[in-house]
Amino acid sequence: MYTNAVFYIIPTQLFHILKVKGMVDMRKIALAASIIASLGILGACSQGNSNDTKDMDHSSMKMEGMDHSSKDMKDMDQDKMKGHESHSNVVSLNNSTGVNEVKVPAELKRNNKDEVVYTVRAQKGKTEIFDGVQTNTYGYNGSFLGPMIRLEKGETVKIRTINELDEDTTFHWHGLEVSGEKDGGPQSILKPGEENTFELKVNQEAATLWFHPHPHGKAAEQVYNGLAGLVYIEDDHSKSLGLPNDYGKNDFPLIFQDRIFDDKKQLNYSAAMNTDGTIGDTLLINGTLNPKLTVNKEKVRLRLLNGSNARNYTFKLNTGDSFLQIATDGGFLNEPVSLKEITLTPSERAEIVVDFSKIKEVNDLALINEDGSVLLPFVVTNQSGETSMVPKKLNDLSLEDKEMDLPVTKKVELFGMMDMVTINGKKFDPERIDFTQKQGVTEVWEIYNKPDMMGGMIHPFHIHGAQFKVLSRDEKKPPENEQGWKDSISVKPDETVKIAVQFKHKGIYMFHCHILEHEDNGMMGQIKVE
Ligand code: C2O
Ligand code: CU
Ligand code: CU
Repeated sequence: MYTNAVFYIIPTQLFHILKVKGMVDMRKIALAASIIASLGILGACSQGNSNDTKDMDHSSMKMEGMDHSSKDMKDMDQDKMKGHESHSNVVSLNNSTGVNEVKVPAELKRNNKDEVVYTVRAQKGKTEIFDGVQTNTYGYNGSFLGPMIRLEKGETVKIRTINELDEDTTFHWHGLEVSGEKDGGPQSILKPGEENTFELKVNQEAATLWFHPHPHGKAAEQVYNGLAGLVYIEDDHSKSLGLPNDYGKNDFPLIFQDRIFDDKKQLNYSAAMNTDGTIGDTLLINGTLNPKLTVNKEKVRLRLLNGSNARNYTFKLNTGDSFLQIATDGGFLNEPVSLKEITLTPSERAEIVVDFSKIKEVNDLALINEDGSVLLPFVVTNQSGETSMVPKKLNDLSLEDKEMDLPVTKKVELFGMMDMVTINGKKFDPERIDFTQKQGVTEVWEIYNKPDMMGGMIHPFHIHGAQFKVLSRDEKKPPENEQGWKDSISVKPDETVKIAVQFKHKGIYMFHCHILEHEDNGMMGQIKVE
């Protein structure tokens, strides 16, 4: 209580002083707050047991000086403060009023005549997100977001990518196991008007992946403006399981993105931008404002993608009913895991199955966020729908002893906030290769999130071109629902996560924090796989 009170008072006065001096710069305030925290006022960092990651979470650290209830905050330059009051004390999302049926991304048509199977164009356009208002947006093969691209394991397809924007972009395939030159990282810039066609042999199991731009320093803004699409990989096994798989009927992708709209209802990135991760008060699901989802009384598969620049979500049903998680980022779990809530940090995916025939209270049923804000109201019809099932055994992923016993050969230290973010003390340098690894050889990476004076924040760590296995969190077995293929993993302050990483292909790949502003600010490194 004592430290909390001190924290509450001092930063409030600090804002005054800084404001008088004209230093209304979040970074300086953060730095000053760090200094104060280090001046013998032992903050919550040192209070808690550092093994208890819950205690390390900033929301429980009571950085009240940066709370929006502080009057001074209200007069502060709002543009600088959008969204964040502190690392993880973020503005709530407005409740969805549920007036719009959630849009389902179109499945991209295959071209079976010519050599090229799929053509993907990055475009600018206008989208009616708010009734009667045109918002300037970006999209793939359309004005906003992108289509769903379906791939089959074992097939070879040619994909043609075209940059129709008037700025540089790349086409990055998040979660896809491809060689470095096809991965679409920042090294693969397409200038306006340029295009690139590549051949892809699909060599990984069924999963829900996605694609988005990756030009260094501009990824966050381009994703924010609407560049993001889905990749579904199917295989014989996934089709034989009997899971709900009727696209747009009982199998829905849900892309969660929070945005701020200005008074002209535009996505004004430079005004909304926060170097610590842009957070908005308005949720769009698949680009739909105030979404609802109409379902039958049946098992429904929801493929959740956190496509936000920085916001974390903890999804749950407002009735407290449980659901089954069946897949992680890169494939099915061995067995479905029953959960009451699930947290996804930026770029993480989870496939869950909600059995709407089993839920008793279907009036006012909704998917809500941890803080209770209504993300997606459900309308449950009286129809019974299909009789799909969720088998007890979904996959046969194994963690062999030999993986468990491997020594740590790569160490990654995540550190910092705002634009002062680093990996192993360094910022991204396209000329520097940080790590090398042999193709087909498993190595254990240890990822440590080093707290700062203010406690630190969660960094979602992502590796390109590979799906990895989570070996441990702070030397303990990872939760059941992380015992599947992953390409992104949340790492809490002071937490150490060990993962087993193997690359099937060669090339240069990025690894980075998937808070897109952190990535753009250089919280990224490169690995060369030979
Ligand atoms: Cu989602 Cu570097 O990517
Ligand atoms: Cu990626
Ligand atoms: Cu980060």
